[in-house]
Amino acid sequence: MPQRKLFVTTALPYANGKFHIGHIMEYIQADIWVRFQRMQGHEVHFVGADDAHGAPIMIAAEKAGVTPQAFVAEIAAGRPEYLKGFLIAFDNWSHTDSPENHELCQAIYRDLKAADLIDVRSIEQFYDPDKGMFLPDRFIKGECPKCHAKDQFGDNCEVCGAVYAPTDLINPYSALSGAVPTLKSSEHHFFRLSDPRCVAYLEQWTQDGKLQPEVANKVREWFTRDENGKSGLNDWDISRDAPYFGIEIPDAPGKYFYVWFDAPIGYLASFKNHLAKIGRDYEQTMKEVEQYHFIGKDIVTFHTLFWPALLHFSGRKAPDNVFVHGHLTVNNEKMSKSRGTGLDPLKYLGLGMNPEWLRYYLAAKLSARNEDIDFNPEDFVARVNADLVGKFVNIASRAVKFVPGGKLVAGDAASLQPQLLVDRVKALYEGRDYGKALRDIMALADEVNLRFDTAAPWKLVKEGKADEAARIGSECLEAFKVLSACLKPVLPQLAAQAEAFLACAPLDWANAATPMGAGHQVGEYRHLMQRVDMKLVEALFEAPSEVGAPSPQPCAAGARGREEQPAPEGRKSEGTPGGEELAPEITIDDFTKIDLRIAKIVDCKAVEGSKKLLQLTLDVGEGRTRNVFSGIASAYQPADLIGKLTVMVANLAPRKMKFGVSEGMVLAASHGDEKAQPGIYVLEPTAGAQPGLRVR
Ligand code: MSP
Ligand code: ZN
Repeated sequence: MPQRKLFVTTALPYANGKFHIGHIMEYIQADIWVRFQRMQGHEVHFVGADDAHGAPIMIAAEKAGVTPQAFVAEIAAGRPEYLKGFLIAFDNWSHTDSPENHELCQAIYRDLKAADLIDVRSIEQFYDPDKGMFLPDRFIKGECPKCHAKDQFGDNCEVCGAVYAPTDLINPYSALSGAVPTLKSSEHHFFRLSDPRCVAYLEQWTQDGKLQPEVANKVREWFTRDENGKSGLNDWDISRDAPYFGIEIPDAPGKYFYVWFDAPIGYLASFKNHLAKIGRDYEQTMKEVEQYHFIGKDIVTFHTLFWPALLHFSGRKAPDNVFVHGHLTVNNEKMSKSRGTGLDPLKYLGLGMNPEWLRYYLAAKLSARNEDIDFNPEDFVARVNADLVGKFVNIASRAVKFVPGGKLVAGDAASLQPQLLVDRVKALYEGRDYGKALRDIMALADEVNLRFDTAAPWKLVKEGKADEAARIGSECLEAFKVLSACLKPVLPQLAAQAEAFLACAPLDWANAATPMGAGHQVGEYRHLMQRVDMKLVEALFEAPSEVGAPSPQPCAAGARGREEQPAPEGRKSEGTPGGEELAPEITIDDFTKIDLRIAKIVDCKAVEGSKKLLQLTLDVGEGRTRNVFSGIASAYQPADLIGKLTVMVANLAPRKMKFGVSEGMVLAASHGDEKAQPGIYVLEPTAGAQPGLRVR
């Protein structure tokens, strides 16, 4: 196949909040596709950006007492941690307030005007006289005209679900100042989507078979003509009045582009920014690339009507396709635009959970269809452990033992028909049918494991047939290579480890099914992946320990926090001191295995990105200090602890965490039911103890 050039984007997230797991899902979906394409030798430019503009961000920045630019920059600074953490390899990440975007938006607007598709007309809107600004629908509140519920938003009622115009509200008031809004007219700029040229073009663009069938069907409804033959497409209001955080409309003082006009153009702006960095010409490259957008189901209108029309009628190329995914729920709980669910992506990483577990799990659930998927903790643990560890990694760890010196011998891996699998899997990745691709891959893994079990090489060795055992082992390692290649788009890190172990060239689609061959020397096997421990998943969903405890900012706890009901006190019966049954009896020998020492806390710091942990520097009298992370941030300020003595487990195996290696554990007391009886108490020896003394 000739080399393709691809320009791929994900939707630009609003820069008014951190990523939630729904965003991460979209990026993982796109990243897998991008990696798959790169493995075919195609040139891919994968870009994202922050969606910086709009009234909500302007208002949030004002509340925070910073400029909108500074507000957005702060959000942007937090992005790489997520992207790196989940192995999402964007080539560029920009924002929509960039010089490239200002320039492109104005150029596109001018071209649309030249095409006679911009109208300017006066409309009446609510205006906040105190704030001196027109109010977006969401910032007007009042009584629902239908059910008379109070304090409803200007666009729809959250109580009865009615949809209406802000002017329909009874006793409207500004959510910003409380003032009674006045009606004021102002000139707005419209993109004339109702123009027959636009309608004809979009009917063709959306119905020519490229869109997912369920998406195309939905879109078709929007074209329904009324009895006069007028299409259902309305002109689109693309302007907002100052004050607005956005891009100025040329030759229209005080008018800004509505955020949804400049946001998709931000795709091009980020791409242009990227091309400049790699020394490529934008106009030329735009002619060469296929353009694809990964988006969620809630923003289909913008991407299948406005966006292709803006591009086409400004004399530019429309996208080649838009790939729509459903939404991710967690335990069937929805995410809102700005708030996530109980699954906090940074907490996931902070617990040292493997990003590839999540990538695999989500990929296994994703199909080409616009369907919602659910993250279910038990299912997650079962799927990852059974497939990745039980089926895939298992092959390598078992097989290598029977290949003396790691030198492969001739075998019959070809009968597993690896090329067939590779071809099937490639087609499925191309069509974003990842779940099906992974099922096919795991079916081959099953076959390989069955072959291994049936041959029972451990018995062969006992029977003096080590050669035969080596043949089976070699076949399985050849198959392991094929499987690693097939999983590489989803599990780039694991594939790299597999390549190192197999001592083979970087895996791609061209070499995936080619045997390493007799005489090939594999490297030393090191365990490739841990199983998911259910305890980690429980910790992931544990409410932050502030919940239930008096909190200085009660609103900060979020919806989840408010739902948590503290368990009634004294629920645990007598005989369970501290809310916990005594652990089973041990001997003194068991106890002496644990080396407890007096430690001096020479330094203590907050851990950025973790609400739970404090980072302690401990002196245990060893002539060096130790680094220990401890989950006590809810109970202590760093300054409370510096200089104090405490007790630590000094012979605990070091544990690698996201923030660094923890070299021990500090002892602290807490109730068995932390939610019912919050409080953490670090142990402190009585006066006179010295760092390094053993506690027995
Ligand atoms: N800023 C606009 C997009 C502009 S694109 C030119 C926006 N931002 S968003 O932050 O609200 O959403 C960004 C993307 O995340 C969208 O594609 C949206 O569908 C997706 N998701 C939001 N919640 C999601 C889930 N729960 N699950 C999967 N994707 C989700 O819309
Ligand atoms: Zn109502």
